[in-house]
Amino acid sequence: MHSFRYVGKELFCEDSSLGALAVKHGTPLYVYSQATLTDNYRRLHGALEPLDRMVCFAMKSNSNLAVIRTLAGLGSGFDVVSAGELARTLAAGGDPSRCVFAGVGKTEEEIRYALRQGIYSFNVESEPELRRISKVATRLRKIAPVAVRVNPNVDAHTHAKITTGTYENKFGIAFESIEKVYARAARLPHIRLRGLQMHIGSQLTDVRPFRQAVEKVAPLVTRLALRHGLEFFSIGGGIGIIYQDALASGSPGWWSGPKGKGILTPESYAAELVPMLRPLGLRILLEPGRFLTGNAGVLVSRVEYIKKTGKKNFVIVDAAMNDLIRPAFYDSFHEIVPVTRKGGAMIPSDVVGPICESGDTFAKDRPLPKVGEGDLLAFMSAGAYGSVMGSTYNSRPLAAEVLVHGKKAAVVRRRQPLADVWGLESTAPWQ
Ligand code: LLP
Repeated sequence: MHSFRYVGKELFCEDSSLGALAVKHGTPLYVYSQATLTDNYRRLHGALEPLDRMVCFAMKSNSNLAVIRTLAGLGSGFDVVSAGELARTLAAGGDPSRCVFAGVGKTEEEIRYALRQGIYSFNVESEPELRRISKVATRLRKIAPVAVRVNPNVDAHTHAKITTGTYENKFGIAFESIEKVYARAARLPHIRLRGLQMHIGSQLTDVRPFRQAVEKVAPLVTRLALRHGLEFFSIGGGIGIIYQDALASGSPGWWSGPKGKGILTPESYAAELVPMLRPLGLRILLEPGRFLTGNAGVLVSRVEYIKKTGKKNFVIVDAAMNDLIRPAFYDSFHEIVPVTRKGGAMIPSDVVGPICESGDTFAKDRPLPKVGEGDLLAFMSAGAYGSVMGSTYNSRPLAAEVLVHGKKAAVVRRRQPLADVWGLESTAPWQ
């Protein structure tokens, strides 16, 4: 479910008009729906009811404090990848004892901080990292709870930049080496082997790679659990969402597969995986990011100019690749719709931002209704890996963010004041 729909001619987020929000707060503007976040969390958590499970929201997809607070309020745990993300969790009222700490490059300082906060587990990516955690824990006289990340060498068949579960990737420890690593780790006095973790990639729209990976890893985790008393098995994140026709498809937020054939929904995901996971008798962790936040957010932008060249109809908007980098970075598709619905013929349009790079393009030859200067456009499904990947390239301030709850809307990140863009800089003393 998501909560973006036209009421008459106007696009609404829940009971709030996006047009009115754009006028009040300016553009480019990220708008998030609290109802969608809540519904997505409840539906996924609910589908896995037969399991002892903990959903750890991968906040790398959207770490706004208000988003974290919404999910913390529903009982979510968190997947964090830096001291910064852990500190955000605390700032938003999240519980550190429900946090797992992932990432291939944890520094000593980060490990110290996480140990002091009492996190649920480190997801360990290499043996040198394991030794470092052990060393820091020994110094602090603490026991570090860890899960080692197994690389199951299963191809997730997703975009090359977001596949993680094969030996071509930097992530995890090879399937064949895991048992030896656990045996060595068991001898480290300040390490408590608490679980096993895996994550094969992001934006998976087919349940088969998940099934393949669980099938492959289940016997391993059973052996390790017996030998080392593991409590949990984390199956990672990666559940994909609808990007194409997100608005038109009625109940978006869920991949319904080609020609409406149901492939991946929380229910089909659960139907496939629960029978394999339940017999393990372990707590199951999930690390969904995009699934929870992707269709809960849009980016609203204003048309600055229409520029017609011999070949093209360029729609130049006030959002740019610094606000939403996914199309430039991964050739990602985001549905683009007018905030005030228009009739008439569709015109193939290139929607581009003002940044001085050809890559600053949101869509090429996209059929759009005729729009003009000052019109508002919404980039759909921008709640995940949108604002968090923003930058100030071209000295463009970070966009504002608003959380909607019914008729209520609150600014949950102010637009960055211009002087703050260079606020950390200075000239050198000799200048
Ligand atoms: N767990 C681990 C260990 C991960 O590396 C990730 C994502 C997740 C969970 C959450 O994956 P999700 O459920 O969101 O698919 N910037 C890219 C996506 C990068 C994903 C990185 N890791 C994009 O815009 O598509």
